[in-house]
Amino acid sequence: MTIAITGANGHLGRLVLAALKERTEQPLVALVRDPAKASDLAEQGIEVRAFDYDQPEILASALEGVDRLLLISGSAVGQRIPQHTAVINAAKAAGVTFFAYTSLLHADAAKISFVAPEHQETEKLLAASGLSVALLRNTWYTENFAGTAEQALATGTILSSAGEGRVNPATRQDLAEAAAVILAAESPEPGTYELSGDESWTYADLAAALTEKSGKQVSVQNVSKDEHAKILTAASTPEGFVGFLLNTDEAIADGEYGDTNPGVLSKLIGHPTATLKESLPLLGA
Ligand SMILES: NC(=O)c1ccc[n+]([C@@H]2O[C@H](COP(=O)([O-])OP(=O)(O)OC[C@H]3O[C@@H](n4cnc5c(N)ncnc54)[C@H](OP(=O)(O)O)[C@@H]3O)[C@@H](O)[C@H]2O)c1
Repeated sequence: MTIAITGANGHLGRLVLAALKERTEQPLVALVRDPAKASDLAEQGIEVRAFDYDQPEILASALEGVDRLLLISGSAVGQRIPQHTAVINAAKAAGVTFFAYTSLLHADAAKISFVAPEHQETEKLLAASGLSVALLRNTWYTENFAGTAEQALATGTILSSAGEGRVNPATRQDLAEAAAVILAAESPEPGTYELSGDESWTYADLAAALTEKSGKQVSVQNVSKDEHAKILTAASTPEGFVGFLLNTDEAIADGEYGDTNPGVLSKLIGHPTATLKESLPLLGA
């Protein structure tokens, strides 16, 4: 029973492979865009195969002998529908029996998150594919807040347009463990897994945690979305990143990233998810 992971050179992919190695003796395949960057994986006995979502013609043969596949969503927002379509078609052609996909928490209901539409579309493609599918609806990564924490420690301020909105992130490590548990199960369970951290927090909670850890006073400056955009732009923040930060805060303010769905992720991985306090080193604090 061979398990393959796409995006295996990425942050999440590498953690999923490591978590799989701890759980199963089954053959593992790392599907990567650039095999030269995966020599360390090959040294661990993991078979490395070239796999570029933008080259549909190579994908089905690269999946030869693969029974279970994790498609880690592509990182090129705006290009993911043709990319994911190519992978789904290749999996069907290659006879993959179980297909897992890293989607977004409550992807079907998300209205604000700018990354949601491509996940929604991919989920529809998978529903129509006839494959046995597990949707790993991952919440926002805790690590996404590293930039916010760095800025806060440097300036003493978290600039936010999220108001009192709550967010329920999980670390890549916890989400990777969940993927490994699902992929390595004796009889893998298709279905929709809403995967979030056990606790939710506000930027005020993050400020308090940073203050306690660093000894430096950090507070939140809550502003309107327009004011937030003005301040970021005046500070020469790249346009794309301004859009990302504003969209994230708008979604947090609206509660889109705040539903903790307590217990689904921690039950799967068999331990509580990392708390904000425990995650501070991941945020550079
Ligand atoms: N839940 C969240 O908060 C959150 C945040 C950010 C991203 N994401 C999503 O989750 C995915 C995994 O996160 P991550 O942290 O592991 O991201 P990452 O470190 O950027 O890894 C993405 C991986 O996708 C691979 N990739 C990109 N385009 C590809 C293509 N055309 N063909 C084959 N592989 C391709 C990259 O290959 P190379 O190594 O060759 O570059 C990389 O290994 C992201 O791609 C994104 O869809 C989720």
